[in-house]
Formats: sequence, structure tokens, C-alpha cells
Amino acid sequence: MTAFEPGDEVFGRHGGTCAELVAVPAAQLVAKPANLTPAQAAAVPLSAFTALQAVRAATGRELLISGASGGVGTYAVQIAKARGAEVTGIRGPAKADLVRDLGADRVLDHTRGEWGGRYDSLIDVYGNPSLKDCGRVLKPGGALVLVGGTGGKWFMGTDRWLRALLAAPFRHFKVKVLVHKDSRDGLLALKDLIEAGDVRPVLDRVYPLDEVPRAIEAVRRGEVRGQAVVSLAVPPAPRR
Ligand SMILES: NC(=O)c1ccc[n+]([C@@H]2O[C@H](COP(=O)([O-])OP(=O)(O)OC[C@H]3O[C@@H](n4cnc5c(N)ncnc54)[C@H](OP(=O)(O)O)[C@@H]3O)[C@@H](O)[C@H]2O)c1
Repeated sequence: MTAFEPGDEVFGRHGGTCAELVAVPAAQLVAKPANLTPAQAAAVPLSAFTALQAVRAATGRELLISGASGGVGTYAVQIAKARGAEVTGIRGPAKADLVRDLGADRVLDHTRGEWGGRYDSLIDVYGNPSLKDCGRVLKPGGALVLVGGTGGKWFMGTDRWLRALLAAPFRHFKVKVLVHKDSRDGLLALKDLIEAGDVRPVLDRVYPLDEVPRAIEAVRRGEVRGQAVVSLAVPPAPRR
């Protein structure tokens, strides 16, 4: 017995979804936001939910968000703005307009080494800034929210997080490590933000199922503005 009827449009997160059919526990799903297409809704759960948790973990009004033009960052900028924050977003040269359009008050370019200002929180989605550099931009009592960019070779790549946690007592800022946790309440909060028009997915391209490797390669190369989605509704390209 579930809250859904056959044919209801739903969204949520589950592994193994690059497939024609997948069984997902009903408890992991909520009704799709009414103003999104299925492809847009598919982009939301992992990235937006991570962003929601990161913004909730941040403190104060002035936020610096690294990786602001990517999957997680595009939602983090919008959610932070919806909560009344003043946002500076770090992105590459081709995506300044995108991050500004999402509401960022200021943008910095990671390819030019731009890094500055003083913030209540740094949401570090991507880039591996050193703890020293994080400390330079955080006010006393500020929060460093570590989302991604671990990249270390020990402890399954989490050694940067461990070092940051160990060093935290000797720094002037708090360290919070974010590990994505799914929840229905989180999905419902995102649905509300999306239906209110405060948050929208930024879809670069929707790929057919047989182009999953191409989609992953585009993300890996940094060519994607926002997110890439794989959809069964897109027919495969004709074979030459
Ligand atoms: N903790 C968790 O639970 C959790 C959950 C989900 C994801 N993550 C992690 O979050 C990270 C970001 O995921 P995503 O899906 O948002 O990635 P993504 O879509 O590939 O976005 C990457 C972002 O990083 C920027 N970037 C690329 N190279 C950079 C550099 N050298 N210095 C600074 N910024 C750089 C890109 O900017 P330009 O493209 O504009 O250059 C873009 O904004 C990943 O490490 C992922 O594993 C963690």
C-alpha cells in the first residue's frame, strides 16, 4: 500500500537508474514537482539534496561557494539566495553568466586564482583549497562546510576531510563534513522550493541511454553547464 497510483509521476534517488526499469521503495519517492519535466526532475535529488544539506550546515549571511557552476553548486547558490544569503560563487571563465543568473551577488574565477573576501561560511564543493586558504576567507567562528574535492589517496579519498577535522580545534573556524543522506523531508523541501520558483535545475543536455559514456565524459571534462541527464525519452542517435 503506497500513497501513489499507477502512472503517478514521482522523483527520488536510487542506484542503478541508467536502466529501462528499476524498482525503488515507495518511501524514497515523492510526487514530482508540478513545474518540472521528468528530465529536469531526474536531475534534482542527489545534487540539490546535497546542496540543501550544505546550505543548512552553513552559518551566517555571507557565503562563499566553490564549484558554483556545477551540479551541486548551481543548487547551493539558489537555495542560499532563497534563504536570504549574500552569495559569492567560484566558477570557471565560461560560466560567470550562469552563476550570476542563478542569483550570485559576486563571482570569482578559479582559473585566475581569484580567492578573497571575508565570509561567515565557505561551502567547499570543489577545488581543494588548502585549510590555510580557507582560514584566510573565513571570519572568526565561521564554518567550513566540506562537500567534495577530497581527492586524497588515503582513507578512500577522505584524508583531506580527516585532516581538516583534526586541525579544527586549532583554527578560528568550525569544520563540518557533509555526507549526503537521503530523506523524504528533504525531497519535500526541495519540491516546495522548486514549485515556489526559488530553485530550478540547470540542464545542459539530455542524453539517450546509449550515450551514458559520452555524458559522463562531458561532465568529467567540465564541459557541462549545470547538469547532464540520461533519459529513455530521447531516441538513440541513428547509426552511421
Ligand atoms: N559530500 C557529499 O555527500 C557529496 C554529494 C554529491 C557530490 N559530492 C561531491 O561534490 C563535488 C562536486 O560535484 P558536482 O556534481 O557539483 O560536480 P560538477 O558538476 O562536475 O561541478 C564541478 C564544479 O567545480 C568547478 N571546478 C572544476 N575544476 C575546478 C578547479 N580546479 N578549482 C575550482 N573549481 C573547479 C567547476 O567550475 P567550471 O566548470 O565553471 O570550471 C564546477 O563548478 C564532487 O567532488 C562530488 O564527488 C559530494
